[in-house]
Amino acid sequence: MGQSFGLIGLAVMGENLALNVERNGFPISVYNRTASVTEKFMATRAQGKNFKATYTLQEFVESLDRPRKILIMVKAGGPVDAVIEQLKPLLNEGDMIIDGGNSLYTDTERRVKDIEAVGLRFIGMGVSGGEEGALNGPSLMPGGTEAAYREIESIVTKIAAQVDDGPCVTYIGPGGSGHYVKMVHNGIEYGDMQLIAEAYDILKSIGELSAAKLHEVFTEWNTTDELNSFLIEITADIFKKIDSETGQPLVDLILDAAGQKGTGRWTVETALELGVSIPTIIAAVNARIISSIKEERVAASKELLGPSVKFEGDANELVNKVRDALYCSKICSYAQGMALLGKASKEFGYNLDLGETARIWKGGCIIRAGFLNKIKHAYDENPDLPNLLLAPEFKQTILDRQAAWRDVVMMAAQFGIPVPAFSASLDYFDSYRRSVLPQNLTQAQRDYFGAHTFERVDKPRGEFSHADWMAADERTLAGTGS
Ligand code: 6PG
Repeated sequence: MGQSFGLIGLAVMGENLALNVERNGFPISVYNRTASVTEKFMATRAQGKNFKATYTLQEFVESLDRPRKILIMVKAGGPVDAVIEQLKPLLNEGDMIIDGGNSLYTDTERRVKDIEAVGLRFIGMGVSGGEEGALNGPSLMPGGTEAAYREIESIVTKIAAQVDDGPCVTYIGPGGSGHYVKMVHNGIEYGDMQLIAEAYDILKSIGELSAAKLHEVFTEWNTTDELNSFLIEITADIFKKIDSETGQPLVDLILDAAGQKGTGRWTVETALELGVSIPTIIAAVNARIISSIKEERVAASKELLGPSVKFEGDANELVNKVRDALYCSKICSYAQGMALLGKASKEFGYNLDLGETARIWKGGCIIRAGFLNKIKHAYDENPDLPNLLLAPEFKQTILDRQAAWRDVVMMAAQFGIPVPAFSASLDYFDSYRRSVLPQNLTQAQRDYFGAHTFERVDKPRGEFSHADWMAADERTLAGTGS
């Protein structure tokens, strides 16, 4: 008898997932392109465990029970295709390749088609949770044919994080749906992180809270129903870390230039293509971009002076207002992410269960939070909910807190503190809740300069009119004046 599972790519995520699979009782073969990495892994973390080290792909493939189940954990893009091409001639009908990287969903769509066409199976599986999640239980988002998923179900349900209502994994849907859902998870992750960064900036720059005080505030927020989450928890931890070299809070020594690997940008790109409004997530991606031009900002700071205002309010009151603003903004950000999933589901035939998607994010992943229970409940109650803002779980909360939210955004503007995600969320809320927006004027302009036509409020939708804007008309303003 061979090994029941195989894993290619022993970088941090691969290593930890391999250990997770083995710990859950599945004998596993591992392969890494550089043999020394495999040797080191076998001599250290894998020692005494049910691992088989292999040093050629041929040996790797031959060590596995059929139909083979092979998880590849290599860098997204070209390396995934390269491994697939090397594996293909070595595999037999029914064998399965699972890509657990952050692959672009369109690549996954293509791979599913190519691979299934030669009688093999392919699952594109989003994996979230970082190093710790991979080892102890990640959130898993597998997409592909349902039959293929059923074959790995017993393994993935064991290795995934476990929450009160089951393992953090479910069959997501066909094609590239697993990676699509993971991409949107990351877009939401970007939104959450930026919103937290803005809360921090206001409390630090306006309220002048020290790192020690920020630690207390975030620790307290993490005990609340609304904000309890992994990201708030690690933020609280971050504020208490003191740099051993300087004795200062480490966070103050970290350069304010954020990196990104692409999943946030992809979320923005697909949202623009599908015509779904996700301003908070766009703001989060933009905030990282502008943060990265550090030297240029430092030069500009000497020339472009902002307001000079002193905060004279009550710091505790500020903390509470920022907490409310953060929560309202977060609801808007998730509303955008879920609306994007809803649209993609229809457009690409993914048939996503949004309640179930929220459930598998309750544990293991970076955006895990108590709050996801409410989202799950909202979609369970009404799977056709047009927008989370309308769910009873969120509607009243946001209405009750909007005054604080508006105060925070106004105060940030007065002090010259950028809050792109807070204000994008507020704009989203105000745009969504207003029955009339000024785009009647936009339509008039489009018709004026390009004869693009417009619909009228006094005629049925879909009936288009055009006006001769330049024609002399006694009812134009100029005309009525005479
Ligand atoms: C996760 C993370 C993980 C990773 C991304 C985001 O769900 O475990 O999203 O996939 O942190 O690579 O990275 P960037 O911030 O570098 O885009």
